[in-house]
Amino acid sequence: MTQFHVLVPDNVDQAALDILQSAGDITVTAPGKMSRAETLAAIGDADALIIRSATKADAELLNAANKLKIIARAGVGVDNVDLDTATLKGIAVVNTPGGNTVSTAEHAFGLMLALARHIPQAHISMNEGKWDRKTFMGNELRGAILGIVGFGRIGRALAKRAQAFEMTVVAHDPYIALDIAEDFGVELISLDNLFSRSDYISLHSLVTDETRHMINAESIARMKYGVRIVNAARGALIDEAALAAAIQSGQVAGAALDVYDPEPPASDNPLLSLPGVVHTPHLAASTDQAQVAVAVEAAELVIQALKKGDFQNVVNPNALG
Ligand code: MLT
Repeated sequence: MTQFHVLVPDNVDQAALDILQSAGDITVTAPGKMSRAETLAAIGDADALIIRSATKADAELLNAANKLKIIARAGVGVDNVDLDTATLKGIAVVNTPGGNTVSTAEHAFGLMLALARHIPQAHISMNEGKWDRKTFMGNELRGAILGIVGFGRIGRALAKRAQAFEMTVVAHDPYIALDIAEDFGVELISLDNLFSRSDYISLHSLVTDETRHMINAESIARMKYGVRIVNAARGALIDEAALAAAIQSGQVAGAALDVYDPEPPASDNPLLSLPGVVHTPHLAASTDQAQVAVAVEAAELVIQALKKGDFQNVVNPNALG
């Protein structure tokens, strides 16, 4: 029997390692977070690589691989993988889109509530020994219009939560049919229309040439005065300098951000010092439940691919010829 080698250079849940180890014919190298040098030294012999977002599977790493067949991303975004090089080398890249849907939607919703009610700022003020009930006057979500950009799994899960809070939900997604949104009680509208109608805008798109910096000076100018923006998708969807300027001018009342471009954000990122901005360090998928789900799914995808030649959830199908 062929013995396969699976390299896991990021911290993934133990449940995934147990599944790999009990699958038979698989040797697992998973010492915890590996340094770049350690990963480069170990990749040559690996048949499969399981990563979260920390390991950059760039051309240098992929070119050091001699027999790599599959990269499984325990999560959704594959922006830490050089897809062109992987495809050229016949390495399938797979992801686990279902596992962190609820975690991410809950986090986006939590950011929106924190933004509406100034919860982090009030907490800090109390840590400073103050009892300030004037500064932190909030807004109800009830009755507000939430515009969801990207109506995939996470956008839909967010819509359900917002509707439970009696928000009106509109969405923009060029890749889905009107009736899918209608089934969720959500009006599917153009991006322009969404920008001009929404009190809150929450981003749930991938970064592509079309979506990079979709929130910029020009699009912000078309939004409602006092709009609030939530981003738990990818930092590059927002032109951060333009957003900071719009918050300073009052055009945008506040933002709640889980993602940055780059990550971690540079210490002089203007958004970090603005009082109207709520920050978390890319935590949307960081729940016990989501990390088990994505890790287990990644392990199962790798076992299926290595042992049965059955590649599922492939994001670069051309790699398989
Ligand atoms: C994802 O792409 O799955 C999330 O952003 C979480 C992560 O990067 O691990």
